[in-house]
Amino acid sequence: MPDTRKILVTSALPYANGAIHLGHLVEYIQTDIWVRFQKMQGHDCTYVCADDAHGTPIMLRAQQEGIAPEALIARISQEHQADFKAFGVAFDNYHSTHSPENEAFVRDIYLKLRKNGHITQRTIKQAYDPVKEMFLPDRFIKGDCPRCGAKDQYGDSCEVCGATYSPTDLKNAVSALSGAKPIEKESEHYFFKLGDFEPMLREWLNPDITQTRHVQSEAANKLNEWFDAGLQDWDISRDAPYFGFEIPDAPGKYFYVWLDAPVGYMASFKSYCERTGINFDDYWRKDSKAELYHFIGKDILYFHALFWPAMLEGSGYRKPTAVYAHGFLTVNGQKMSKSRGTFITARTYLDHLNPEYLRYYYATKLNSSMEDIDLSLEDFVARVNSDLIGKYINIASRTAGFIHNRFSGKLTDKISPLGHKVTKQLELGADTIARFYEEREYSKAMREISRLADIANQYVDEMKPWELAKNPDAGHHLHEVCSVSLNLFRQLTCYLKPILPETAKKVESFLNIPPLNWHENIHLIPSDSIKKYEHLMTRIDPKQVESILVASKESGQVDQIPPTPPIPPLTKGGGEAGGFTPIMEIISIDDFAKIDLRIARIIKAEHVEGAEKLLKLTLDIGEEKPRTVFAGIKSAYQPADLEGKLTVMVANLAPRKMKFGLSEGMVLAAGPGGKDLWILEPHAGAQPGMRVK
Ligand code: 2FM
Ligand code: ZN
Repeated sequence: MPDTRKILVTSALPYANGAIHLGHLVEYIQTDIWVRFQKMQGHDCTYVCADDAHGTPIMLRAQQEGIAPEALIARISQEHQADFKAFGVAFDNYHSTHSPENEAFVRDIYLKLRKNGHITQRTIKQAYDPVKEMFLPDRFIKGDCPRCGAKDQYGDSCEVCGATYSPTDLKNAVSALSGAKPIEKESEHYFFKLGDFEPMLREWLNPDITQTRHVQSEAANKLNEWFDAGLQDWDISRDAPYFGFEIPDAPGKYFYVWLDAPVGYMASFKSYCERTGINFDDYWRKDSKAELYHFIGKDILYFHALFWPAMLEGSGYRKPTAVYAHGFLTVNGQKMSKSRGTFITARTYLDHLNPEYLRYYYATKLNSSMEDIDLSLEDFVARVNSDLIGKYINIASRTAGFIHNRFSGKLTDKISPLGHKVTKQLELGADTIARFYEEREYSKAMREISRLADIANQYVDEMKPWELAKNPDAGHHLHEVCSVSLNLFRQLTCYLKPILPETAKKVESFLNIPPLNWHENIHLIPSDSIKKYEHLMTRIDPKQVESILVASKESGQVDQIPPTPPIPPLTKGGGEAGGFTPIMEIISIDDFAKIDLRIARIIKAEHVEGAEKLLKLTLDIGEEKPRTVFAGIKSAYQPADLEGKLTVMVANLAPRKMKFGLSEGMVLAAGPGGKDLWILEPHAGAQPGMRVK
């Protein structure tokens, strides 16, 4: 049994102005699995979080709703906590950055930084809304892109051509709040002199090879680029009106939300300490031996691996042991989108599916890198049904009934050498799986567990308990096989427990055993009575996933408040909502008019070997050479039904190289999916090549 470690873990604090969605959950599930694993190891591991409650978007959202910001953040906090609980994300403490503890720490840190000479003041010019009488963050200014002329772009970057600029460069700029033309106005701002910490940060991010890294090497490489650009002073103040904490000795000036957000980690832990009597300083003083880990998305690395360690260093606290950044979530290979119905909130998901399916699927995808992970909905259904249910749950469902019906629920410990051997084989996986969990290589842990589940299934398949049950002389053998199988099932449950906590709890209760943990595991379940087996999980019906997409489309109300840029500029405040917020792709009518829709005759339709969804279509659109298009309509059409039909295609789409060949356009089809998908069929008089208006 390893020494007990003292570990404090955090996940990024979600903004208190929006619902938790499947993108957020990647991080909370990743962290929760790690924390549960550490707890199962017997370590003293504490997991804290809080709502990130300050800033302009939250202030404006409350105004829109006609309520006080305090009322808004209280409501959202309840919603967030209910969502987390339902997904099994088990914080030891959930707090708010709008709390007395946070205010005390923020003031303390600021005053120490000031005393140590790391704060400076100067007057800057900023865009100001003369109607709303407030300074405008860049994201609240809209206008035409100075580079490509695209209309309705945010004040910091163009979503059409990708240019980044300052809001003063925008053409025809207006305030997104009032529509008024912003004016330039001067104001005194407070800055944190990040440059003072450059030598420390360089070393912290690039330790020599004998030392453990504090950030992943890919993250360090990215962050090192900021040194090349030169570390700028960081603007940490905002003018009233602002929902936040007032800066000491600076009436009307507030701390920028990103200054008090990470301090919220300390505040939440402090409130936990007050509740439990744990010593706060043991974890946060400069020479603390406790470990401190921040799990975050890669978009907020700058805050956690530059500003935050510098703030801690400058005010005499310890720095994080490590900051672990993960990638973004895509759904079906694309950014989450309200129009596609793939912007799925935690609540919508919960209305239709068991949360442990998602925990399981994310675990099969997660690793220690910053690569994005994809939730392919088809693969999600397949993996849950075939692996989670088919390989794992089935071991119990195929054997438990016999124990209950034939042996009054009692297991036997009279096990044959083969039974011991296979049990031992599964036990031997423990160290490898533990190492993968520790390293956040969950997909590797899952592969190892799956390999062990194959061994268990092979044992059941070879022993054929259902055949033994027909033979009146094979009573003991049946008893032994089912007992061994349930022991194998218990061992797999132990390995999966960080991922499937609810299922593990049900299994512990059904097997009548104490909570499973890593080191004090029994070799065999005592022969006491087990309870009657109740279904632990059912297969996903793809219709449930379709219902989620439909519900997500229906609930797709576009946020009134502009989302945030992924990377904040160092010199200015930048955006205030997270990079998690999806951006709905709005296209102008001019963009829409660029789409060249043509009547096409399907001259050939063929199956594509190895493609689950695609048919290969050869289309005549009146050009000399027919076009080839790979269309995802196989679930709805037989190739023979399509040949000779007229349809509509997007003829000016850039050709796309696919695994199966070049696709030279797209065929228009609509419907919820599966069998219910229809290509457009123009009237018979239409001619290939005609333009569709
Ligand atoms: O990006 C975000 O969603 C922020 N609310 C995360 C804050 S993490 C920490 F610094 F508080
Ligand atoms: Zn542009």
